[in-house]
Amino acid sequence: MNLGFLVSHNGSNMQAIIDACKSGKLSAIPIVAISNNKDSGALQRATSECMAVFHINSKTEGSEESADRKIAQVLSSYNVDIVILAGYMRKIGSEILKKFPNRVINIHPALLPKFGGQGMYGHNVHAAVLSAGEKETGVTIHLVNEEYDKGRILSQASVPVLSNDTCESLSKRVLELEHKLYPETIADIVNNKIKLQT
Ligand code: GRF
Repeated sequence: MNLGFLVSHNGSNMQAIIDACKSGKLSAIPIVAISNNKDSGALQRATSECMAVFHINSKTEGSEESADRKIAQVLSSYNVDIVILAGYMRKIGSEILKKFPNRVINIHPALLPKFGGQGMYGHNVHAAVLSAGEKETGVTIHLVNEEYDKGRILSQASVPVLSNDTCESLSKRVLELEHKLYPETIADIVNNKIKLQT
């Protein structure tokens, strides 16, 4: 299976998936990375891994709709089987969802349906978990649809929230789990243990 990534920042989750492909734990090819942010660490990582790399956003294409169309075209031209959002900070447009029905997946750093929705990203999520006094939090991998964080849940795993946790300590614990759960879930998809089609 060919994997296409949409990324905005550091790209540590993308890297964990690439590493799983390289070690043979995941039988798939990381083929292309697209970012709205040309200075992202993620694009540097993808370049180092000899993947095809594209910088596409509403400014490069003139509008959100054209960017959506262009991203869908690029993913199709690389015969991408699964579109992986890994820290991608833009909403996915309808063209991508139409071209890749039940084939776009995302990682969220909390146990959805809790702590999801618009504005719930990065430290906002962990701050909300801490201020709600949760005893555990975790990671969710889910299908992407038109609504933020509302697609079918494919896998989840949890970590404890400790009494002395800060946003930083909690996000570090969650990110370590993300790096494990994302490649494992994609491997389950590739091996047909998780079925994307409903
Ligand atoms: C992760 O916490 C992920 O859950 C969220 O954005 C962050 C991306 O981190 N969607 P990275 O760019 O993979 O390092």
